[in-house]
Amino acid sequence: MKRPVSKQNKWADHYTRRARQEQYPARSVYKLQELQKRFKLIESGDRVLDLGCAPGSWTLYAAKLVGRNGRVIGIDQHPVKERLPENAETVIGDIFRVEEDGSPILEQTFNVVLSDMAPSTTGRKDVDAARSAELCRAALNLAETLLETGGNFCCKIFTGQDAKPFSEGLKKTFRQVRQFKPQSSRKASKEVFFIGLGKK
Ligand SMILES: C[S@@+](CC[C@H](N)C(=O)[O-])C[C@H]1O[C@@H](n2cnc3c(N)ncnc32)[C@H](O)[C@@H]1O
Repeated sequence: MKRPVSKQNKWADHYTRRARQEQYPARSVYKLQELQKRFKLIESGDRVLDLGCAPGSWTLYAAKLVGRNGRVIGIDQHPVKERLPENAETVIGDIFRVEEDGSPILEQTFNVVLSDMAPSTTGRKDVDAARSAELCRAALNLAETLLETGGNFCCKIFTGQDAKPFSEGLKKTFRQVRQFKPQSSRKASKEVFFIGLGKK
């Protein structure tokens, strides 16, 4: 007997199918597309740092946006197996250890820092949210060092008690701070994106 398809699965199928047709390894690309449409985070010629880049959808899409004169470098604990264009590369690494590891991401500055990093979930919302906030703080620390004046920042956070103080903290570093929940993000998901525009 066929199982009825829930509304949520239909949604998942739509974005997953579309990503496959458009040759992206993950449907998360549509979140970055919505963020880009709304906030114009990335411009042609930019250097972009993509934190938590595996399996590679954001890197591929950002590489299209920056074009031949721009560059995208991604970092993730897991390797990106996707074939990337010449203006993009990824390295394996843990965001909490980039200095000890002498990561190549520290060798340049960027116009945009993106983070779609997510912790392995435990099922306990408070624990997952706290771990997500730690990843966001690490992303912001890197942005404070590596992002050029005027640069843009975008990071995913699982909402919890740390989300508000984190967004308040962003106001010290960026001229404008916004919050956004893309349509392509599951309604049930606790994730939202914080956007910092124009590093001071
Ligand atoms: C939702 S996925 C990113 C999807 C990616 N933006 C894409 O479009 O293909 C989240 C990623 O965060 C990475 N991640 C989690 N903790 C990390 C850490 N401490 N350092 C580096 N990457 C991490 C995970 O390995 C995972 O690949």
